[in-house]
Amino acid sequence: MKSHEFIEKNVGWMAFWVLIVISIGGLVEIVPMMYQSQIVEPAPGIEPYSPIRLAGRDIYVREGCYVCHSQMVRPFRSETERYGPYSVAGEFVYDRPFQWGSKRTGPDLARVGGRYSDDWHVTHLKNPRSVVPESNMPGYPWLAETNLDPAEIADHMRALQTLGDPYTEEQIAQAADLEGTTELQALVAYLQGLGINAKGG
Ligand code: HEC
Repeated sequence: MKSHEFIEKNVGWMAFWVLIVISIGGLVEIVPMMYQSQIVEPAPGIEPYSPIRLAGRDIYVREGCYVCHSQMVRPFRSETERYGPYSVAGEFVYDRPFQWGSKRTGPDLARVGGRYSDDWHVTHLKNPRSVVPESNMPGYPWLAETNLDPAEIADHMRALQTLGDPYTEEQIAQAADLEGTTELQALVAYLQGLGINAKGG
């Protein structure tokens, strides 16, 4: 019996070899990407999140904002005209997990930093309809009544440090300054930083 025929007639061996072939194909695509500086190194101006923005990002994730908002400007004219420079891989090196999203019930937020005032965001997040009457975004009024836990943010920064984010001990110590800061303030700080360093590709 020819070896090929043998494999075709034995499902166990067939599965084994299919797996080997697919793995080689996968590795050939994935491994070189891990060494491409354009992908693994931060884009100009991209730095690890400051304590308040990191806290805001956690709230963004916790509240599920990504369910309605993407953070990824695609390289199409219609997108760049509306939102600004398209997203590049180096913008996301400190995003764990990234917030690209795939659903846009609301607009993309990758370039929202600086587009509105802090006051606008506060009013909008408490009750979106007070500034955009037709909005179907839910309000998040409780964020204004809950304070951040600085110890938790410092722990988060330490965890990111072990993953390779270049936080200094001094930066981690700055988390203590967030005593008395509300979750709403942190979320606004996070939003106001989104895309402010985007240069476009
Ligand atoms: C159910 C879907 C939904 C969810 C969940 C949601 N949004 Fe929205 N969001 C919208 C819609 C629709 C708009 C456009 C209307 C408006 O401005 O309110 C919007 C607008 C915005 C804007 C203004 C963007 C711009 O460029 O004008 C910001 C900022 C924003 N949302 C932040 C958030 C944050 C932060 C959260 C999580 C705390 C969140 N959204 C959750 C639907 C949603």
